[in-house]
Amino acid sequence: MKELIFETKIRAFPVAEAPEIYKELIESAIDATANAYAPYSRFNVGAAVLLKNGKIMAGSNQENAAYPSGLCAERVALFSANAQYPDSAVLALAIAAVTNGKQVDMITPCGACRQVLLEVEKRYRSPVKILLCGRKQIYMAESAASLLPLCFDGSDIQKDVSPPTHPL
Ligand code: THU
Repeated sequence: MKELIFETKIRAFPVAEAPEIYKELIESAIDATANAYAPYSRFNVGAAVLLKNGKIMAGSNQENAAYPSGLCAERVALFSANAQYPDSAVLALAIAAVTNGKQVDMITPCGACRQVLLEVEKRYRSPVKILLCGRKQIYMAESAASLLPLCFDGSDIQKDVSPPTHPL
């Protein structure tokens, strides 16, 4: 039997050591926690994405009484950025969370958000740096793919199936 080991590299550094543009991104993610609509979990998440065109777009979690109808902060930020600037690759995403009035000491994206991030990486053929905001440190992964070993993506879908024809 062969054992396969997958490793993920995460770099940790104090915010003060981050490049200016990341500091701005981190601040946007923390600020965005204030705009969360999270009456059910009271867990406010903020996300901010840095686009290749230099813009920073923020998002926050938006909950719903019918729980699955809500959306995580990361996807709110990503979908909104991709909808408004479809030609601009996403270079980085920062995530922060606040609960009981205190910043959470690091939050990581859920599985569904990792899958969406992976799609963004494939779409723009460019890795998305993931910055996880702790109280004192930033934890950075080089890409979403590095957080999703053995991932499923578009290349796994059978290619020789003809696309459906338009009914009209
Ligand atoms: N949530 C996010 O917005 N991002 C994550 O990465 C994890 C969880 C939200 C979903 C829900 O509104 C609340 O946090 C509690 O799970």
